[in-house]
Amino acid sequence: MEKNIYESIRCMVTGVEEESPSIKTVMLKPERDFSFSAGQFASLSVPGVGEAPFTPSSSPCEKECLEFTVMKAGRVTSAIHSLRKGDIVGVRGPYGKPYPLDSFRGKEILLVGGGVGLAPLRALFLALLATSADYKRIIFCCGAKTPQDYIYKEKILDQWHSLCGKMPLSFRITVDQKCPGWRFGEGVVTKTLDGLDVDTGNSVAVVCGPPIMMKFTTLKLLEIGYGDTQIYLSMERKMYCGVGHCRHCLIGDLFVCKDGPVFTYSQLKGKPNLWV
Ligand SMILES: Cc1cc2nc3c(=O)[nH]c(=O)nc-3n(C[C@H](O)[C@H](O)[C@H](O)COP(=O)(O)OP(=O)(O)OC[C@H]3O[C@@H](n4cnc5c(N)ncnc54)[C@H](O)[C@@H]3O)c2cc1C
Ligand code: FES
Repeated sequence: MEKNIYESIRCMVTGVEEESPSIKTVMLKPERDFSFSAGQFASLSVPGVGEAPFTPSSSPCEKECLEFTVMKAGRVTSAIHSLRKGDIVGVRGPYGKPYPLDSFRGKEILLVGGGVGLAPLRALFLALLATSADYKRIIFCCGAKTPQDYIYKEKILDQWHSLCGKMPLSFRITVDQKCPGWRFGEGVVTKTLDGLDVDTGNSVAVVCGPPIMMKFTTLKLLEIGYGDTQIYLSMERKMYCGVGHCRHCLIGDLFVCKDGPVFTYSQLKGKPNLWV
């Protein structure tokens, strides 16, 4: 039987974790299997309120628990922030094209994430970790405004950081504005790309964050020597149908919901209103 792409799967909230003053991670137990690949998104609905698109932030290999990391922006995201253990939400999807992990094999993978943009990168990072022998090296550059705004603090700074000696993995961590006790870098996330020792001929860079961050990171990557086809950008646009019918998510002639949300810079270069 063909899958109904509009059908929601009932999920029970099993936990809610505050990541920063404006960002929470909700943990869900789907009533039946929900499979996705890193980079794809889903529509999360709160009964009586509405639905909005989000990229799962949990590992695509994890079938029992599905997580979304959500920044409070308006109606739906505020309702998601008010969820409690035991509440029921709906998830439909997955939609869109994932990161082409097969073409990442044997390469140095550079991940650059800022703010809530670290959420989709977490799913990708966990997928890469699960098959880490396939990649030459993983370099994860993370940024946030202040230490309080860092999402996945414990995971990035302790759990994941402790893996560095055990595999070809490194982190470059920064905040725009540090505070006493902060032991990592200071400066916007593009600063983590200064002095980067990477073989650009055999590397791909994956960028996710607010539009201004994506723009300046892309420009810096081009300056370092990455080609247009080696830079992957995860795009967001206001969405309604999620499946290519309503045309709300267009960037030029590209539909974010079905051609993306993951695009190479070569696909997007020169499109109108790219960095809004
Ligand atoms: C593919 C995709 C993946 C996403 N993944 C995440 C994620 O992992 N975590 C996360 O926190 N957010 C994510 N977003 C953004 C999220 O969908 C919006 O924040 C959400 O739709 C806002 O809904 P709302 O009802 O709370 O806000 P609304 O009341 O609809 O609007 C509040 C404000 O947010 C703006 N807005 C609404 N929708 C979007 C949108 N899709 N993109 C940009 N601005 C928007 C509005 O213009 C308005 O200024 C993603 C968006 C897309 C398209
Ligand atoms: S969200 Fe409707 S066409 Fe993309």
